[in-house]
Amino acid sequence: SSSHQPYRTGYHFQPPKNWINDPNAPMIYKGIYHLFYQYNPKGAVWGNIVWAHSTSTDLINWTPHEHAIYPSQPFDQYGCWSGSATILPSGKPVILYTGIIDGKNTQVQNLAVPKNLSDPYLREWIKYPKNPLMASNVENQINGSSFRDPTTAWLGHDNIWRVIIGSKYHRKGLAILYRSRDFKKWIKAKHPLHSGKNTGMWECPDFFPVSTAGQNGVDTSIVGPYVKHVLKASLDDTKHEYYTVGTYNTILDRYIPDKGSVESDSGLRYDYGKFYASKTFFDNKTGRRILWGWINESSSVEDDIKKGWAGVQAIPRKIWLEKSGKHLVQWPIVELEKLRVKQVKLPSKILEGGSVIEVSGVTAVQADVEISFEISDFKKAEVFDPSWTDPQQLCIQKGASVKSALGPFGLLALASKDLKEYTAVFFRIFKGQDKHVVLMCSDQSRSSLNEDNDKVTYGAFLNVDPVHEKLSLRSLIDHSIVESFGGGGKTCITARVYPTLAIEEKAHLYAFNYGTENVKMSSLSAWSMKKAHIY
Ligand code: FRU
Repeated sequence: SSSHQPYRTGYHFQPPKNWINDPNAPMIYKGIYHLFYQYNPKGAVWGNIVWAHSTSTDLINWTPHEHAIYPSQPFDQYGCWSGSATILPSGKPVILYTGIIDGKNTQVQNLAVPKNLSDPYLREWIKYPKNPLMASNVENQINGSSFRDPTTAWLGHDNIWRVIIGSKYHRKGLAILYRSRDFKKWIKAKHPLHSGKNTGMWECPDFFPVSTAGQNGVDTSIVGPYVKHVLKASLDDTKHEYYTVGTYNTILDRYIPDKGSVESDSGLRYDYGKFYASKTFFDNKTGRRILWGWINESSSVEDDIKKGWAGVQAIPRKIWLEKSGKHLVQWPIVELEKLRVKQVKLPSKILEGGSVIEVSGVTAVQADVEISFEISDFKKAEVFDPSWTDPQQLCIQKGASVKSALGPFGLLALASKDLKEYTAVFFRIFKGQDKHVVLMCSDQSRSSLNEDNDKVTYGAFLNVDPVHEKLSLRSLIDHSIVESFGGGGKTCITARVYPTLAIEEKAHLYAFNYGTENVKMSSLSAWSMKKAHIY
């Protein structure tokens, strides 16, 4: 029962038990959405990896199927690791995935095709008998234990397919490029599509075009004047993902990030909390590009084993290029809103310095909340020190209990009545050189009385001008998840938390302003969320 399992989610994707990691080969086929994912059928820790499979008509409610791809052949008998789907021009989907061929984690790339194209659920997959298609050997300089996670392939105007595989050469992260005329015989290009100095291994790369003319997605092979390209890498060393926005030079077959765009440290992240091994796909039914990402636990391995499961998938996000062209914007897919019930709306209200107000009438443990703030007087804003280049450190130093003039203000999610436990998601506004600086934080330090959890605080800057725009925050609260979107999705932070008091009906939701100056809460809407059908 839920009292024994207070951390299981109500509307985020997870199987009934065991370990999950990366989303694999997301796609839409004959109107059905497919999600495959890395799964351990035998326990709550990583291992014995197969591809589990579920399908959906709305990306929220799911039907599980038999495992789609599992070790069975010399080219994958030690594991079936991550990969991607490509829809061929004929409409036929194919999958490229990484096979583990020995006890030393040697990695190769394999092809699998549907057994029966008239089955919209694509329940059975046939492995191409001439696998592997790509492998390390004496000539190609590939490091065979760092060679994995093929992307969706794209087709050039020369009718040649391209795909990239994550890798490294010493400390240099690589997006190794392969080309093929028939999707079967693949030849490694002399140079990678792109590489990153001193980043370590690039896992789960993703490479896709984004439109410069609005929020619609574009299919993966599209090139031309109205698109830019995005390259994302998941860095094994830090378990953080970085993306850059740039140009795909089809003549050189190289990706060139825009100036100031880098894969590490100060680079851009889809999510500044827990979010890894993500992958996008183009949804040709609705014209969206949709992002899936894995949210790992922040609990101890012992606790994971005790509860019998680990890992969930983030709510799928629509993803597009912001109008500046400098970064992406993400927003939970609209289908999620079908789960909203019992809207609670608070009237616009001044939140005086030091105030906390409860949002009652909502199932605070399983909710969707949108709040926005307006600031009219910036005179007292704390001056921003230009040496503060690391927003996470800034959020760690200036947590929810540290007052300044403008902030912290935001939400206390999964809070106990006495505020012994809460997860604080908030903003803080500073006076910068020529503009204001907005910091967004997710402070987990008081999220649980259980000290075995990783309760580190997350933070990022938010590209919003608070003088001319409202500051908005949306949080998806789901038992042990607080998935937050600042500024309409310009900055996202996902946290895992494990309250001991603020569980089930004992969880509360508050809006707060612990700054010394007043801020106006211009709107607040909260919905209780129905449970999704997931298995
Ligand atoms: C990323 C990853 C991938 C690999 C898979 C194995 O989380 O390590 O690089 O293919 O997980 O489960």
